[in-house]
Amino acid sequence: MKGSLHPKNNQTINPSGNESIRDVIERVSMKRRRFILTAVGTSVLTVLGDVSISGFLQSVEATPIPEGTGFGGIGFKSIPPNLNNPATGLLEKDLVSVPAGYKAEVLIAWGDPIMPGAPDWLSNASQNAAAQEKQFGMHADGMYYFPLPQERFIGQTLSSLRRSARSFLNQPLNRGLLCVNHEYTQEEILHPDGLTFTPATETTPESGIPGSQVTIEKVRKSQAAHGVSVVEIFKNGNKWSFNRNSSYGRRITGNTEIRVSGPAAGSALLKSKKFSITPNGSVDSGTLNDGHTAYGTLNNCANGHTPWGTYLTCEENWNGYFANPTEDVVSIPGIEKSEILAGQNRYGVSTSGFGYRWHEVDPRFDASTNPLEPHLFGWVVEIDPYHPQSKPVKRTALGRFKHESAQYVVDDNYYVAFYMGDDERNEYIYKFVCAKPLNPQNRDANRDLLDNGILYVAKFKDNGTGEWLPLVYGQRGLTPENGFRSQAEVLVKTRQAADRVGATMMDRPEWTAVRPRIGGFKEIEVYCTLTNNSRRGTEPVSSNNPDGTTGAATARPPVDAANPRPDNRYGHIIRWREDGRSVKATTFRWDIFVECGDKLDPDANHVGNIKGDDFGAPDGLWFDDFGRLWIQTDQAGDGLGDWINIGSNVMMCADPNTKQIRRFLTSPTNCEVTGVVTTPDGKAMFINIQHPGDGSQPSNPTEFSNWPNSQGYGPSGRPRSSTVVITRNDGGIIGGL
Ligand code: FEO
Ligand code: CA
Ligand code: CA
Repeated sequence: MKGSLHPKNNQTINPSGNESIRDVIERVSMKRRRFILTAVGTSVLTVLGDVSISGFLQSVEATPIPEGTGFGGIGFKSIPPNLNNPATGLLEKDLVSVPAGYKAEVLIAWGDPIMPGAPDWLSNASQNAAAQEKQFGMHADGMYYFPLPQERFIGQTLSSLRRSARSFLNQPLNRGLLCVNHEYTQEEILHPDGLTFTPATETTPESGIPGSQVTIEKVRKSQAAHGVSVVEIFKNGNKWSFNRNSSYGRRITGNTEIRVSGPAAGSALLKSKKFSITPNGSVDSGTLNDGHTAYGTLNNCANGHTPWGTYLTCEENWNGYFANPTEDVVSIPGIEKSEILAGQNRYGVSTSGFGYRWHEVDPRFDASTNPLEPHLFGWVVEIDPYHPQSKPVKRTALGRFKHESAQYVVDDNYYVAFYMGDDERNEYIYKFVCAKPLNPQNRDANRDLLDNGILYVAKFKDNGTGEWLPLVYGQRGLTPENGFRSQAEVLVKTRQAADRVGATMMDRPEWTAVRPRIGGFKEIEVYCTLTNNSRRGTEPVSSNNPDGTTGAATARPPVDAANPRPDNRYGHIIRWREDGRSVKATTFRWDIFVECGDKLDPDANHVGNIKGDDFGAPDGLWFDDFGRLWIQTDQAGDGLGDWINIGSNVMMCADPNTKQIRRFLTSPTNCEVTGVVTTPDGKAMFINIQHPGDGSQPSNPTEFSNWPNSQGYGPSGRPRSSTVVITRNDGGIIGGL
């Protein structure tokens, strides 16, 4: 996530003043060349000999990576990075590029119609909220594919079931539902005139053209572009398309009515002001919400799904939509002001938010006058894509934080756990273990599995072991004298509860990924991207206070074994195995899968230990059904500064056994690569390109990128976040041999 409304937790690393690749070529010494030669794997196609460094960067990993235990091998030749072109200041290619023998085509873009009555998108962005409510949302992020008809959905339960599922799915798979998150909006692109215009004499950055103002119409369109899309897609011959008139087509937005369930439902902390939400404004009804109802889901970043065939969308930087301009709150009977304000501090609700300015025309988002509304965000939301009339549900048992993905494991006793990150500097890794086992025969019996269970937070010890600490009311100091009077309060204040029990502060936990237990691999092994942490190892040293008083992202923790690099600008990927192969385990063993970096960086701290092609800022993470680990990045998208040798954002593919990693996909200018899933047969892969051309102003939307038009999709006019489908020319499995 980047752009003017970009959150503080994603604060990008300073452009470092590192030498550019060109500078390095100028001054490279023989000693340095020897270093490069030893750093490059023996499978590199290009023979380095007297090659230049640009030759080194353009080299590709060519030899297939053979199959291994629980791993299907990697068959493609990696592709070179998409580097910044100094002549234009942009990336060399405003394209999605994939290996030889593969094809990448745009499937659907922001604004495309996905349900009956939806209008076509207009390239001047003149459409209103009502149109956007029937169109594909903006800034696509995490997603999952659900085959149609519903009987074709088979969750990962046991490896044997999984194998039989695969033979079952050898039948043609031509139709499905893609559930897609829409993380945030870029107002400069969403509206013809941007959001507001500020005269150059004032210090606030301009994001509009002269005369533009915040209006309720713009805010409603922005809210409508958030949330989730359910899109029916189908294959005709070899071509995937979306159905613009599907009866499954659905938008869940920033205003959709949602049920709240689990231990925090009905709590006084969730009884915010009830508004009548209309196109012209939010009208205070004078009554309160019942604590079982919320309106909207926001900043839906990563995702998950359940073994019973529902989609999970995770609310990440929801704090940025709220503003508390008074730094005070109105009185709420029975709740101390100081308690509410402490929560706003711990979760990063600030005086002006990230700059959406919704609160100026929609009082629902004023955290001063409607101070409990933020408590209705920060949850995991369950959606049943197979039933378009079903109401989404916020599952409070899974905790309230800045949720990244929620990936599940079903163990041999049919118990289910979901693994989750809280993406902010120095936040924590969690798991939720359902109290009851999965019923694989009866979908409806699993309906409320997410409402009862134990939420744990991870403690990583220096000796390679770890402990899951339960966040249970009455235990480990989660008691009234420390501000926790019920399990509902533990969940609304999940971050403070984790502070209290002594969880390990991590370098921004992003997506989790669960390794499939196939082909002789039997462990419960879970991976998590730790994208970066510019404060790690800096002065003055501080930690999140046990009393929950630390402001979001403000601590400066020392390095530790699980977060070993100071100024961790390239990030790393950690993984753990549950003891006893049970999701109920309270202990685990962990190691670091890879430290990301740039092998040419003169600072040894930033070199990393990648076996293969370099990358950094790992974010999206997913295992396919064949044990290949796919890694997506979210760095600055211009290939400058720290990224001069790495280029654009990428998708990598890794062997979990040997840790070999190679580059599969490069992206257009100023975007990130996110969201990944395949059809169950593995032959079509879907990924999202988010915020292409980020940073342009409304007066010149295509200043940095004209993608996807540059890749042959849709009219020119403004860049659009889009879903891309990747297939193999020979019809084979994506990534496979
Ligand atoms: Fe939306 Fe943590 O990235
Ligand atoms: Ca991201
Ligand atoms: Ca993310």
